[in-house]
Amino acid sequence: MFSRYKKSGTEKPAGKVVGPKVAKVVEKPVAAARAEPANLRKADAPAKAAPADKEKKRKERLSEIKVQLHQRLLDSLNLSALENASEKELKAEISAIATEALEEMSIVLNREERTQLNQELYDEVTGLGPFEPLLRDDTVNDILVNGPHQVFVERNGKLELTDVTFKDEKHLLRIIDKIVSAVGRRVDESNPYVDARLADGSRFNAMVPPIAVDGSLVSIRKFKKEKLSIDDLIRFGAFTEEMAAYLQAAVATRLNIIVSGGTGSGKTTTLNALSSFIDDSERILTIEDTAELQLQQTHVGRMESRPPNVEGKGAVTQRDCLRNALRMRPDRIIVGETRGEEVIDMLQAMNTGHDGSMTTIHANSARDAVSRLENMIAMAGIEMPIKAVRGQIASAVNLIVQASRLQDGSRRMVSITEITGMEGEVISMQEVFRFQRVGLTPDNKIIGHFTATGVRSHFSERFRLWGYDLPPEIFEPVEG
Ligand SMILES: Nc1ncnc2c1ncn2[C@@H]1O[C@H](COP(=O)(O)OP(=O)(O)OP(=O)(O)O)[C@@H](O)[C@H]1O
Ligand SMILES: [Mg+2]
Repeated sequence: MFSRYKKSGTEKPAGKVVGPKVAKVVEKPVAAARAEPANLRKADAPAKAAPADKEKKRKERLSEIKVQLHQRLLDSLNLSALENASEKELKAEISAIATEALEEMSIVLNREERTQLNQELYDEVTGLGPFEPLLRDDTVNDILVNGPHQVFVERNGKLELTDVTFKDEKHLLRIIDKIVSAVGRRVDESNPYVDARLADGSRFNAMVPPIAVDGSLVSIRKFKKEKLSIDDLIRFGAFTEEMAAYLQAAVATRLNIIVSGGTGSGKTTTLNALSSFIDDSERILTIEDTAELQLQQTHVGRMESRPPNVEGKGAVTQRDCLRNALRMRPDRIIVGETRGEEVIDMLQAMNTGHDGSMTTIHANSARDAVSRLENMIAMAGIEMPIKAVRGQIASAVNLIVQASRLQDGSRRMVSITEITGMEGEVISMQEVFRFQRVGLTPDNKIIGHFTATGVRSHFSERFRLWGYDLPPEIFEPVEG
């Protein structure tokens, strides 16, 4: 059965049969526990410790068996035929080989263990091993690995330690290598860190030893096929309908917008959602280090920068893309995240006819975002008096939208701030909407509400002239 996936001559796979050893390995902890002096334990301790011990033992046993079976599968399977195999065929074949091997090793597993083992073997052969169940789990946003034995995930804005582990550093490195070699990159001692994109679009970064001290560090930002829409974000409490109406007017009337926020605060998600307000007739160019944005418009040109190759050549920076983009007749330019020298070209683009452009910045408040811009300009080696720098920023940027992940894990648009001009050497700003915190529930959920600050929008007249006559109630503060 399914012999076309088997290498010829491997019916009795090469390699030692090490079945009995497995059983011995897992017996050890129990034997050791029994040998413990009785006076160190509370009278009822053994009974209580048992289920956790048993579960741990079961996991260790499964993990040992899996490693052995995986090697055996690699020996037995005709890897070139795998590409054309259907999932069903391959699963059946894996299950057949595993059954054969388990019999030879005299290992008996219950039904649940076998199903789990077969799934893990399938993931190991075709995919990214222990990462697979986490990649399949839609509730997981981020996967963060600190060495082979510690895998965290982020769900609902909160980090959780999982029981997913890799066998050892070698196993983890093998999976990392599988990911990066699929995109033609390399990671090793001489190139110890790398960015890549998984086949499903997820953003991937790895840093390996010796730079990563306790084993490889991996961060994966899962790609969401269904990006959160404006309606979703309103429903999740990220902002209100009133704020959405204001943002719609801001985008449609071509204000230049910066989405500011900390790491994982929802900047890219917000930028993506805001882009839905752009008219379908416009030509939009997007520039990113890792393509994450998914614009719904018809006329979209996407660019992704490229790091240098191992000889240090061939880099195409965001700045290169941006300069080229200016020759490509865009109506709007969207830069995924401004973090370096491209800031100059971004501000210039915003100032010179590509109004309605948008980007994100890593900063903790609107003021902070402006300081970050100033710093980036200084770091790019532009020597301009600070007043001139600020003048450039003030005339380029119209709106700063602050995204934040609050301590209870919720992600909210905590502030919308307009840049209104310059007063002396200072950029003047006014906050139009904000999230007002009022307290904390006993289970540490943040209590608060969104409110307008009561100021009249600096852009009211512009909105009106463009046909976005926002009702004045939108700008009235909410009592509470
Ligand atoms: N308001 C929200 N409610 C629930 N989940 C959200 C919300 N905003 C964003 N997310 C989810 O949070 C995760 C991080 O969002 P996003 O990638 O937009 O953050 P980011 O600030 O761009 O992160 P980074 O700094 O790593 O680029 C994503 O999985 C996204 O789907
Ligand atoms: Mg982002």
